[in-house]
Amino acid sequence: SNDFCEAGALYGAAGCGISPPLSSAKLLIKGGTVVNAHHQEVADVYVEDGVIVTVRPNLKVGDDVQVLDATGKLVMPGGIDPHTHLAMEFMGTETIDDFFSGQAAALAGGTTMHIDFVIPVNGSLTAGIEAYERKAQKSCMDYGFHMAITKWDEDVSRDMEIMVKEKGINSFKFFLAYKGSLMISDELLLDGLKRCKSLGALAMVHAENGDAVFEGQNRMIELGITGPEGHALSRPPVLEAEATARAIRLASFVNTPLYVVHVMSIDAMEEIAKARKSGQKVVGEPVVSGLVLDDSKLWDPDFSIASKQELALYIYCCCFFFCIFAILYVMSPPIRALGHAKALQAALSTGILQLVGTDHCAFNSTQKAFGIDDFRKIPNGVNGIEERMHLVWDTMVETGQMSVTDYVRVTSTECARIFNIYPRKGAILAGSDADIIIFNPNSSVGISARSHHSRTDTNVYEGRRGKGKVEVTIAGGRVVWINDELKVSPGSGKYVEMPPFNYLFSGVDKADDSYLASLNAPVKRSKSVS
Ligand code: URP
Ligand code: ZN
Ligand code: ZN
Ligand code: ZN
Repeated sequence: SNDFCEAGALYGAAGCGISPPLSSAKLLIKGGTVVNAHHQEVADVYVEDGVIVTVRPNLKVGDDVQVLDATGKLVMPGGIDPHTHLAMEFMGTETIDDFFSGQAAALAGGTTMHIDFVIPVNGSLTAGIEAYERKAQKSCMDYGFHMAITKWDEDVSRDMEIMVKEKGINSFKFFLAYKGSLMISDELLLDGLKRCKSLGALAMVHAENGDAVFEGQNRMIELGITGPEGHALSRPPVLEAEATARAIRLASFVNTPLYVVHVMSIDAMEEIAKARKSGQKVVGEPVVSGLVLDDSKLWDPDFSIASKQELALYIYCCCFFFCIFAILYVMSPPIRALGHAKALQAALSTGILQLVGTDHCAFNSTQKAFGIDDFRKIPNGVNGIEERMHLVWDTMVETGQMSVTDYVRVTSTECARIFNIYPRKGAILAGSDADIIIFNPNSSVGISARSHHSRTDTNVYEGRRGKGKVEVTIAGGRVVWINDELKVSPGSGKYVEMPPFNYLFSGVDKADDSYLASLNAPVKRSKSVS
C-alpha cells in the first residue's frame, strides 16, 4: 500500500526492502525449547489471533495453520525495552528514529515492545501526551509510555492523576541533570515522589547532579578542553553516585519505590545495592551501552609513529577523526572505564540490578557533529534498540554469567512485572500476547551501520560479532522478521495501558503504619512529661 511504501522510504534505502506482514491468524511454533523466566521445557506453541492459546508438547493442528519449525532453538518472550527515546526533541534537534523506524529496528533485533518517555510541552502533561499519541500513530509494534515531570504546579499534580487513571501511564521520570532544560529541584522531586506514591505510580530518576555537572563543564572549558573527552571529565561517577544516593534517600523518606534509569557506574550501583540490602524497594536499570562499552573510544588513540612529519600529520588526522568518532559515544551519564561495565554485568547476574534497557536515543553523525568543537553541544544519546537482545545474550549468557531463564527475566519478564503488564507481556503462557522470538544459540550475528535497521548512519557497536541470533520475531501473532527480512506496516502496533500499584507497592501502607506507630511512642512520652 501507499502508506506502507512511504514508511519504508523512511529508511532512505534503495527499494525499501520491507514488505507487509504475513497475515496468518494461526501459527504453530514446533519443537523448540520454550523458555520463561520461571521454567523451560520442550513444547509447541499454538497462536491464534495474536494470543497464545496452548503451550504443550506434540500439538496437532489443521492445514490452515502456518507452522514454524523451532527444533534445536529457543522460543522466548519478545524483548521489552523499558527505556527509549523515539522522535524526541532534545538538545536542539530530534532523535533520528521515529516510532516506525525505531520499532522496525527493534523487531529485527527481537524486541517486541518498548516504553518511551513522553516529554511534556512547556511543562504541560496533556500537551505532551497529545504530541506523543500523534508521533506513535505510525507504530508497528506494541508500546507504552512513561512521562517526564519537568515543572511543578497544581495543573501538573492534577494531570498526573489523569495520566494514571485515564491514559494508562504508571511511571514518572525526574531528571536530576540537564540544568536549564529538563532538570528539577529537590523540592520538586519531593512533591513528585509524594504524588507518585499516592497514585501508585513508579518514580524514576535520571541520577546525576546537574548543578555539579554544570560546574564541571565550566571547569573543562576554562582548561580549554572542548572535545568529547570533556563530556566524561565534566560528569564523573561521583556525581552519578551523589544523585543516586540522594534520590534513594528521598524515596526512603517518602516511603515510595524508586527506579534508577541507566545505571552507568560502580559508584551508583553500590548505592542501589546498599539500599536494597537494607530492604528498600529500589530498581536499578543498566543499559546495554553501560554493560558492554568502555571509554577507551574517548581516550586511547593508538600511537605508533616514525618521523616528525608523520607525527604532525597523524595528530592532525587523529584530532579530526578521533573527535568525529568519539562524539558518537557521548551519552549521559557517560560511558565509563572498563571496570565499570564488568561490575555492572556482575550486578545484573546476581540480581543487584534487575532489567536491561537501551536508552535508545539515536542521532546521525551530522547531528552529533553539532558539538564537534564544544562537547556541551553534542546531542546526548546512543543507539541500541536493535542490538540489546543479541548483546545481552553474548555478554551475559555466552560468558556463563547468566542462565537462559534469567536472560528472559532481564530482557522481558521483569520489565513486564515492574510496569504491571505481566503475564500479558513477558511470558509464553496460554492467554499471553503472542510476542515471541525464535532464537538460534548456534548461529551468530554481526553488527554494522551498513546492515542495521535504525535510520542512524553509525552504530556504537560497529564491527562486533556475537554468538546467537534472533531468527524469527512474532509480534501480536504475526511473523514480522524472518529470513533476515522485515515484514511490518505502520499502524499495526498497539498502545499498552499500564495500571498503577505494581508489586513494589505491596507493603508500602503497612510500612507507613509502623512508621506512624513508632512516632506515637515518643509523642506520648513527651506529653506525659509536660
Ligand atoms: O544521553 C542520554 N541518556 N540521552 C537520552 C536522555 C536521557 O537522559 O535519558
Ligand atoms: Zn516499498
Ligand atoms: Zn536520562
Ligand atoms: Zn533516556
